[in-house]
Amino acid sequence: MIYYKTKEDISFIKESCLLVTKTLAHVASILKPGVTGKQIDKAAEEFILDHNAKPGFKGYRGFPGTLCISPNEQVVHGIPTDVEFKETDIISIDCGSYMNGYFGDSAFTFALGGVSDSVIDLLSTTYESLYKGIEEAKVGNRIGDIGFAIQSHNESKNYSVVRELVGHGIGKNLHEAPEVPNYGKRGRGPKIKDGLVIAIEPMINMGKKGVKQENDGWTIRTKDNLPSAHYEHTIAITENKTEILSDHSPILASIKNNTEIKNISLKK
Ligand code: CO
Repeated sequence: MIYYKTKEDISFIKESCLLVTKTLAHVASILKPGVTGKQIDKAAEEFILDHNAKPGFKGYRGFPGTLCISPNEQVVHGIPTDVEFKETDIISIDCGSYMNGYFGDSAFTFALGGVSDSVIDLLSTTYESLYKGIEEAKVGNRIGDIGFAIQSHNESKNYSVVRELVGHGIGKNLHEAPEVPNYGKRGRGPKIKDGLVIAIEPMINMGKKGVKQENDGWTIRTKDNLPSAHYEHTIAITENKTEILSDHSPILASIKNNTEIKNISLKK
């Protein structure tokens, strides 16, 4: 069952989302080669607790981290480790927070200084597809319209869409109905109605679409070991407008000030 949100619900979800993007901006200010996922995770947890909120992922079905940190061939759900980042890494960082009874959720893939142009293209194409999906997220459309837009954009560049993991409704629960696949057919799936709040999160592989789970029970990685990109926005759809609740501008500002992270021009 889909829980449609009131204006008040949406304002609480937005607050939680803005803390998430501020946390990701904080993360982006300290991210560089030589730093470990565990260090970043600790900084994020402290940041969230300092803002009178709780990490949204920590303890969720037993997940041990505040952040999902998924470098290179890891797609999502990577557990923070003691491995140091290298200057050729791309790193998907997914963050959730819980405050005032509502969850916020957003993810961003960062590229360190030595990342190749072909991988940069994967990142920018994935980011563009997120916004193409958001364009279709309006009252009267269907969930399949979102997936169709995301899938077509990425497949036009011969990238592939992960099928096993999808976006989701969000609110008082981290994951609610409906599922929001990053693939689909126009005019299919649940109708989008006033008050729907969803997280859209394309997970796009440079090579083939196949993924597998690591033995840690969490980490999802590509079967062919080629890199994967991931960006996520939480959005609210109402009769008059679709609003992006997880504004990425604090993250982009932070990247500009950190010379260790590539400042990719990301088209919306
Ligand atoms: Co999500």
